[in-house]
Amino acid sequence: MSILLLFPVLFFAGCDKQGAAERDARQQAKPGYQVAKTFCSQCHELPLGYQHPPDAWPYVVSRMEGHMEAAHKRIPSAAEHDAIIGYLQSK
Ligand code: HEC
Repeated sequence: MSILLLFPVLFFAGCDKQGAAERDARQQAKPGYQVAKTFCSQCHELPLGYQHPPDAWPYVVSRMEGHMEAAHKRIPSAAEHDAIIGYLQSK
């Protein structure tokens, strides 16, 4: 393969890595991150807020609390529940 064809591929791969690191840092700086991380990464990766529109998150989190109950895991308190939803709804 010619180097001219390879260059854009490497360039964009590099950008994407940097973008992901910045996105992670931004997510971790948001209030509620630690609470959400503690509860929501027990069974799968912590989801990103933009996976659902803000008003859909309360339903998703309640459904997840049902999974936690079924799996005999600790259920978030009312304050933790609100903190998780606040984290997921923030930009
Ligand atoms: C006890 C295990 C468990 C925990 C803890 C858990 N989940 Fe899930 N999650 C699941 C399972 C099982 C599915 C697939 C079935 C479903 O979607 O209900 C899923 C699917 C999802 C999906 C993809 C489906 C959709 O509706 O978009 C999202 C987003 C999600 N979980 C978010 C969360 C969040 C936010 C938390 C923390 C409040 C969380 N999960 C905690 C088990 C869990």
